Amino acid sequence: MTTTDINQTVEMAVATIRQHTSYQPTVGLVLGSGLSELANSIQEPDIIAYDQIPGWPQSTVVGHSGRLVIGQMEGKTVLVQQGRAHYYEGYGMEQITLPVRVMRALGIQTLIVTNAAGGINPNFSPGDLMLIADHINFLGLAGLNPLRGPNDESVGPRFPDMIGTYTLPLRQLAHQVAAANNFSLQEGTYAYVAGPSFETPAELRFLRTVGADAVGMSTVPTVVVARHAGMKILGISSITNMAVPDPKPGTVLDHEEVLETGKQIIPRLTVLLKGILQQL
Ligand code: HPA
Repeated sequence: MTTTDINQTVEMAVATIRQHTSYQPTVGLVLGSGLSELANSIQEPDIIAYDQIPGWPQSTVVGHSGRLVIGQMEGKTVLVQQGRAHYYEGYGMEQITLPVRVMRALGIQTLIVTNAAGGINPNFSPGDLMLIADHINFLGLAGLNPLRGPNDESVGPRFPDMIGTYTLPLRQLAHQVAAANNFSLQEGTYAYVAGPSFETPAELRFLRTVGADAVGMSTVPTVVVARHAGMKILGISSITNMAVPDPKPGTVLDHEEVLETGKQIIPRLTVLLKGILQQL
């Protein structure tokens, strides 16, 4: 896709969304694996199925619904992306980052992105929430960066600075909200891998050695595009399983476990997101 193709697709998607809603969202919220239920907290929603929006990538993964839910949450107008498409589903980087380009074109300046991730840090447990403080973009480092190709200077610079990508005041606010509700949040580095196969023991030892605290198959391309466009970003991983080289004998990691733990985390994540939105 050329920059012109991308811009045209974004414009068409924006036009379609504007036909379906008169809300002017200021916050974008991406809900990852097993976390779709969170969108039930949106009041008076306008709902748009992904297949009604030209160019929008459909998610083929169990646990990901395919709808935009736009409405009010804690006094803020929020656009919720209920389910996302991943690189491993066969989409290109341009396609999986279309939603965030559309959010920006709609005027959204704050992005809250959630995902399910495997916990690498031995101090983590399944059920923990981890604020993303930094990431390792394995696909990007290897050349699969969504900003590859001509740069649109009207959006952002050719060489965006990635230091401070995960907005510190938003992380501080998240910690305050958690503390006020008697729980705490982990914080760490998220390693982005392509999937869909989970990691081998050798890969997990490698990820731990290079400083990753959690590993997952999403989020980072979206964050890179959002950062390029100057958006404020909060990333939250729900640690659905431990991704360790020496699991308890008999444990088998599968997508069911990811979804099941994701479900158990929803009440706490809902409290966290509502508290953050209230104070934004
Ligand atoms: N590895 C990669 N992605 C994941 C995992 C994992 O263990 N759990 C949830 N998403």
